[in-house]
Amino acid sequence: MQRLVIPLDERSYPILIGPRLITPEHILPYLGKGPVLVVSNETVAPLYLQAVLAALEDHPHSQLVLPDGEQWKTLATWERILQHLAEMGATRDCTLIALGGGVIGDMTGFAAAAYMRGVRFVQIPTTLLAQVDASVGGKTGVNLPAGKNLVGAFHQPAAVLIDTDTLNTLPQREFLAGLAEVVKYGLIRDAEFFSWLETNQDRLLQREADALAFAIHRSCANKAEVVAADEREQGNRALLNLGHTFGHAIETATGYTRYLHGEAVAIGMCLAAAFSEYAGLARPPLFTRTRDLLQGLGLPTTPPEDVPAATLAAHMRLDKKNLQDRLRLILLREIGDAFIDDHYNESQIIEFLQGHAG
Ligand code: NAD
Ligand code: GLY
Repeated sequence: MQRLVIPLDERSYPILIGPRLITPEHILPYLGKGPVLVVSNETVAPLYLQAVLAALEDHPHSQLVLPDGEQWKTLATWERILQHLAEMGATRDCTLIALGGGVIGDMTGFAAAAYMRGVRFVQIPTTLLAQVDASVGGKTGVNLPAGKNLVGAFHQPAAVLIDTDTLNTLPQREFLAGLAEVVKYGLIRDAEFFSWLETNQDRLLQREADALAFAIHRSCANKAEVVAADEREQGNRALLNLGHTFGHAIETATGYTRYLHGEAVAIGMCLAAAFSEYAGLARPPLFTRTRDLLQGLGLPTTPPEDVPAATLAAHMRLDKKNLQDRLRLILLREIGDAFIDDHYNESQIIEFLQGHAG
């Protein structure tokens, strides 16, 4: 087992990474004195809920199994968690455990942030994306009809328990989407890791345990440093959004049905790399290395042909991170060196997208 710490003074917490972590030894130390509510969904609960409940031994607990899917990441589902806590008579010393992917993690974390103005919670992420990104760093929340993650809170967990065995049941497409976020860390701040990914892509695709454990650890270590330096995204935490402005526009333009988030981010990272070269901010082979690694990992790398450049650019303009008419983009100087840029406007993006053959 590997252990990392997110250093945030009194809110510091450990991330444990390894197989067979759903045990009393690894869970009990992070619980408060009060009752525990384990929140999961209809897909993950049949696989891992019994193991978590068994690990709680005689600690008083309850369980809530929610429907599966991003469409359920709503205020109404969040309220169900809060109602359940109230009906259990949960007091301020209770603990929530989020058992599932990023949807369950974000919603359970947000319930923990709000119940009695904040109670303890533990993340047991079961998708690769949640293990390397969503469970770490304390961003919690739900969607509104007007947009994703529009309501939420920063609320750090008491621990993140990454049981790598849970990846054995993850569908291939979800697994690959998680790898996109792994590549992101190499691109934004860890060139050595990017090279390691280029060399070890086949081992990752085979889900070789050692390679996966290394990639998860290195991703979390990178995220830990970024979050420790900028917990509330006043500055460089925004670098974690590399590929997301293009990616969100692609998800929105295709109605959130065609691409998984990580797939859209993979395309978005290719576009960010291509745009960086196009704008003279970076030199080749930044784009080809980015595209080749993502393609090698089975991810899409070109924007959908049926979405006009103007539509994508219009969705990008509506991104909540923008300042007036300037788009806020995360761009690259080279592999491992990302920066925040707000020099470009919608028409420049359209011109680039129209000329970008992929
Ligand atoms: P998800 O939670 O929807 O999980 C994907 C699918 O895999 C679901 O059907 C789920 O039931 C299933 N699943 C989960 N674990 C499984 C397992 N071990 N075996 C088999 N099936 C399993 O999606 P996700 O990609 O994990 O997370 C996406 C969410 O995370 C989005 O809502 C996004 O906004 C959020 N997110 C949050 C942050 C953050 O910093 N808080 C960062 C990135 C993403
Ligand atoms: N996923 C982006 C962040 O945690 O800031």
